[in-house]
Amino acid sequence: MTQDELKQAVARAAIGYVVDGEIIGVGTGSTANFFIDELATIKDRIKGTVASSEATAARLKGHGIPVFDLNDVESIAVYIDGADEIDASGAMIKGGGAALTREKIVASVSKSFVCIADGSKLVETLGKFALPVEVIPMARNAVFRQLAALGGQPKVRVKPGSDEPFVTDNGGHLIDVAGLSITDPVALENTINGMVGVIAVGLFAARGANVCLLGTAEGVKSLRWQG
Ligand code: 5RP
Repeated sequence: MTQDELKQAVARAAIGYVVDGEIIGVGTGSTANFFIDELATIKDRIKGTVASSEATAARLKGHGIPVFDLNDVESIAVYIDGADEIDASGAMIKGGGAALTREKIVASVSKSFVCIADGSKLVETLGKFALPVEVIPMARNAVFRQLAALGGQPKVRVKPGSDEPFVTDNGGHLIDVAGLSITDPVALENTINGMVGVIAVGLFAARGANVCLLGTAEGVKSLRWQG
């Protein structure tokens, strides 16, 4: 199976976690896009969605699926999203698609987090994928120096084909930190959250996944954690 077929398989399996009559939180990225396309086939069963990015909102609306502003929603039954890496404890690196801050916000309001990922995303230790950190633009270089002091190799994400910093849906800039071996994801999440000027870090460890649907050649495997 190709990576896209594995992503499609987990997206289809995630429909089993959609709660009828409820609001569903929807992530961002290619796996989340497959999920949105599956969700369209059962859109009449749900009340609507909250999107984790402008791109996701546009795709949901394109399918005629209602998208609510999070400020108008008290709770979300389930949040369904991909990941760049996930470890055996359910901690994840996210933000390769630049949506980490809104993903974290929507996930924080959701009763459970279902991660959908192809098997290549399951790792023993997080950190091979460069860790995204969203920052207030004026704090970019100050945070950059603090991230370098942690031992990684930070790099400012740039717009494709340009030297200009990439700008997120929130007007933030992104620093991707390579070369970290993240043996204590919760501690590192807290440390980076404590840096003034950081909007969010793409470590989802203090609030990790409750379920991971993992696409493998042998079929969709499910991993579960308390929460
Ligand atoms: C976006 C994300 C995505 O979930 C992550 O990058 C995985 O993307 P894909 O499903 O395309 O592999 O965190 O900010």
